[in-house]
Amino acid sequence: MSPRLGGSARPPVAAGCDRKPPGPVAHLSLARPDDWHVHLRDGAILAAVLPDTARRFARAIVMPNLDPPVRTVAEALAYRARILAALPAHARFEPLMTLYLTEATPVAEIARAHASGVIHAVKYYPAGATTNAAFGVRDLTRCYPVLAAMERHDLPLLLHGEVTDPAVDVFDREAVFLERHLAPLLRAFPGLRIVLEHITTRAAAQFVSEGPDTLAATITAHHVLLDRNALFEGGLRPHHYCRPLLKRADHRAALIAAATGGSPKFFLGTDSAPHLRHAKESDCGCAGIYTAHAALELYAEVFEQARALDRLEAFASINGADFYGLPRNEDRITLVREPWRVPPTIPAGRGVLVPLRAGEAIAWRLAG
Ligand code: DOR
Ligand code: ZN
Repeated sequence: MSPRLGGSARPPVAAGCDRKPPGPVAHLSLARPDDWHVHLRDGAILAAVLPDTARRFARAIVMPNLDPPVRTVAEALAYRARILAALPAHARFEPLMTLYLTEATPVAEIARAHASGVIHAVKYYPAGATTNAAFGVRDLTRCYPVLAAMERHDLPLLLHGEVTDPAVDVFDREAVFLERHLAPLLRAFPGLRIVLEHITTRAAAQFVSEGPDTLAATITAHHVLLDRNALFEGGLRPHHYCRPLLKRADHRAALIAAATGGSPKFFLGTDSAPHLRHAKESDCGCAGIYTAHAALELYAEVFEQARALDRLEAFASINGADFYGLPRNEDRITLVREPWRVPPTIPAGRGVLVPLRAGEAIAWRLAG
């Protein structure tokens, strides 16, 4: 079903009221979306952030970079049970679990993951690239037997696509990853489905567009809303720090073109990554931007500015499900074009999160 964009009639003005009636309210109805890349964390933070994701999305690919990471099927099942237990009453939300790839992942774990029915992918983190990536992979070729098993069982590989080579400039690490690691991977495993996560560059968007059908990419809201100037606007802005880093404006434009261009290879993955305020506002702050409080609404702003609201449904609700081979969601949600103000902080455990747009307005609101 295609999205329905409409303008409701102006509400009737009450007799005797001399206030000007509000303007027409645009609304957008679309199949309930899924988030194909989210960090839900654990414990008190999980309890604080899960309602935001579950309110908007039917399903989400849940990242395994807990401390310690989710490396086995048993750990993924236990984590899934904790997520389900933390769901608000009556929420209908399905966590799609992932395993954290290490050089010690046993080949046999892949068959078990496939048989579990609840594990939908395996995530590659280059060692040291980002939050809790210390257990990540140093030499991807050591994982090739595991990747061969994933190819056989048709279990997708999700890539944090950055090299960690200190000789490579931190803004170039995604582009270098494409040639150094992704191209050989595609040649070695032509049947393996691969998602290049949270792409940030024109090179990555082009590489995925021109790549085989087994290759797709997620795009975050923050990478289509912000460029790297946002890291230094009036001072150092730790709440805009994420990995891969925000890039130049021309890369942002390429990502918007990819997201809104109608290709089924690109889909929504927020990479919403909560860290308590003190961990962000620190002399060695954590990477990650919290966007789950307004995830879909933020994308709607970008699609509206690109005059592509009619393409939001495919990006948010269809392309990802098709790539993962999962059924499309049948229920629908409605966005209303009605500005609201994001709270300056969101309580989480013993601290607070500072969400994207803290204290500022967002143009679209989720109805209901
Ligand atoms: O900014 C990020 N935050 N990028 C990642 O890859 C990990 C994430 C996190 O877990 O905080
Ligand atoms: Zn992530």
